[in-house]
Amino acid sequence: MSKGLEDVVASTSAITFIDGVRGRLLYRGYDINELAELSNYEEVAYLLLHEHLPKPAELSAFAADLSSKRTLPVGVKSMLASLDTNSDAMDVLEMAIAALGIYDYPVLPLNEKAASICSKIATVVAYLHAHSRGQTPIAPRTDLSHASNFLYMMNGKVPDETAERLMNIVFVLHADHEFNASTFTARVVASTLSDAYSSVTAAVAALKGPLHGGANERVVEMVAEIHSPENVEGYIRARLAKKEKIMGFGHRVYKTDDPRAKIMRKCAEQIATTDSELRELAVLEKVQEFMFKEKGLYPNVDFYSGFVLHHLGMPTELFTPVFAVARSPGWLAHIIEQYSDNRIMRPIAQYTGPTDERYVPLTLRAGKITE
Ligand SMILES: CC(C)(COP(=O)(O)OP(=O)(O)OC[C@H]1O[C@@H](n2cnc3c(N)ncnc32)[C@H](O)[C@@H]1OP(=O)(O)O)[C@@H](O)C(=O)NCCC(=O)NCCS
Repeated sequence: MSKGLEDVVASTSAITFIDGVRGRLLYRGYDINELAELSNYEEVAYLLLHEHLPKPAELSAFAADLSSKRTLPVGVKSMLASLDTNSDAMDVLEMAIAALGIYDYPVLPLNEKAASICSKIATVVAYLHAHSRGQTPIAPRTDLSHASNFLYMMNGKVPDETAERLMNIVFVLHADHEFNASTFTARVVASTLSDAYSSVTAAVAALKGPLHGGANERVVEMVAEIHSPENVEGYIRARLAKKEKIMGFGHRVYKTDDPRAKIMRKCAEQIATTDSELRELAVLEKVQEFMFKEKGLYPNVDFYSGFVLHHLGMPTELFTPVFAVARSPGWLAHIIEQYSDNRIMRPIAQYTGPTDERYVPLTLRAGKITE
């Protein structure tokens, strides 16, 4: 028995390889550093879903397919419009993906469903962003890349090349991460031969938990509380003394630097220009340095991602839904892989409860308690 299934090999997979000792991350054999620098959302989503990097014709057909699938079915839009504007964004996202399973062309082949979910999940997040502010949602455009269209729907203007590039890096870095809790959840649901929409709905539910998604929101709050680098040591010392976890640190698999955190840090250093950004970055770097000195812990991808997402105009409360947009190609690739060689996931428990209780009729139980 391994608590939290630590180090348990639950299945084979040819999608993502993490070398937690050397700090390497590969998607289908390609190093994350190369993919983040040279590739983009469409290519990486294709790579994960179709097992190879696309040829030019394959890429343009895939990109066209994604962009043609951006518009939400009317039924989903009216469900979203009926919700309270202050509804929890991840609850709404769960509901919307489940609703897509009802309204989204259920007869499509699996690959098409995967493209549809990856495409529409971005529209859902932009829709719920507008709805929560009482604004009219911005309809998706078909002439923009996935990253550019997402920023356009979120911020109301077509981004410049630098912002589009940064959004692509965020998408690529978060696209897959082996058997993390949400992906494993998606595979468990898929292993019952439930459908792709239900599997992704379950993955969104797992991502909602603060130990999985959501750490970057807490990091942003922490940086605001710390405010300036000279407060770092006192703040972190006090939290550690209370045995609190510092969000954005530690990882089940990485025993060294998370390569995604290194790339995010580099991005943060390149984009920080305003006084407040420079101050926040100085706080982050000081926290990183101090946590290593005190606990020997490295930052994970969530440590610098909130900073980058703020720079792109994303509000803190939407960080986890944006993570879901980025992670959907990975979820779908794992669902497809699970179906391709399926056996229902059904582990066993090490039973620790009683074994020799005798049934006492209800009328006698009250007396038993007062005895
Ligand atoms: C990611 C995480 C859930 C992994 O959990 P895990 O593999 O079960 O690791 P544990 O919680 O058992 O931690 C192992 C040890 O490191 C310490 N540790 C781990 N992460 C820590 C953190 N963020 N801050 C302080 N200490 C931490 C634990 O206190 C524990 O120390 P102990 O053995 O002295 O009790 C955990 O590191 C965490 O909660 N991090 C903060 C949340 C976060 O950033 N999540 C995003 C993940 S990408």
